[in-house]
Amino acid sequence: MKGVPNCLVALALMALACSVASAFDPSPLQDFCVALNTSTDAVFVSGKFCKDPKLANANDFSFQGLNIPRNTENALGSNVTLLNADQIPALNTLGTSLAHIDYAPYGLNPPHTHPRSTEILLVAEGTLYVGFVTSNPNNRLFTKILKAGDVFVFPIGLIHFQFNVGKTNAVAFSGFGSQNPGLIVIANAVFGSDPPINPDVLAKAFQVDKKVIDDLEKQFN
Ligand SMILES: *[C@@H]1O[C@H](CO)[C@@H](O)[C@H](O)[C@H]1NC(C)=O
Ligand SMILES: *[C@@H]1O[C@H](CO)[C@@H](O)[C@H](O)[C@H]1NC(C)=O
Repeated sequence: MKGVPNCLVALALMALACSVASAFDPSPLQDFCVALNTSTDAVFVSGKFCKDPKLANANDFSFQGLNIPRNTENALGSNVTLLNADQIPALNTLGTSLAHIDYAPYGLNPPHTHPRSTEILLVAEGTLYVGFVTSNPNNRLFTKILKAGDVFVFPIGLIHFQFNVGKTNAVAFSGFGSQNPGLIVIANAVFGSDPPINPDVLAKAFQVDKKVIDDLEKQFN
């Protein structure tokens, strides 16, 4: 250490300690990944296998047709188009994806959460009432009415929704910080699981009569 000032050595050690302390495993791209010792029986990797870069071309980085409105004639009156590595292969391992959402008048993107990503939403057309709820113990609701050109952020993992409160169609785009943000629609996960959750569990959890749960489970199965 001759010739190197002690304070520089101390700084270098501090920097090393900091980088060790902030190191973390890469985020998973799926709900779980059961370990295998050999690749012979493996069916999944975190992300997808990579094409030889020499064979990549511009189409691997591109998608067309988001200008075409999607069909919103369903019970919720909304339709989400997610562009991830399945649609744009070059997104693999790049940690981002994009959603395009069409809403009929009074169409709803129902309460849901993305376990692996924050979402930043831009309203392109129409008027949306959006909101999210913070985690326990406060469960605080944040809401806002958005018009074309307005942007809103839904923090990672929190339950959120968008509702078209206008009399016209609405269109929004959402950016994600994961190539596979994941999607848990609350009603489908709770009342539409396969097989269904025991109605006694849900009747107690929601403090309602079991008949209410039976009706809801029928609705979502
Ligand atoms: C993987 O290898 C370890 C160590 O040899 C062994 O204990 C374990 O049972 C193996 N797991 C599987 C799924 O084969
Ligand atoms: C969304 O729109 C596409 C294209 O219009 C359609 O094929 C698809 O069934 C729609 N999805 C839902 C959930 O309505």
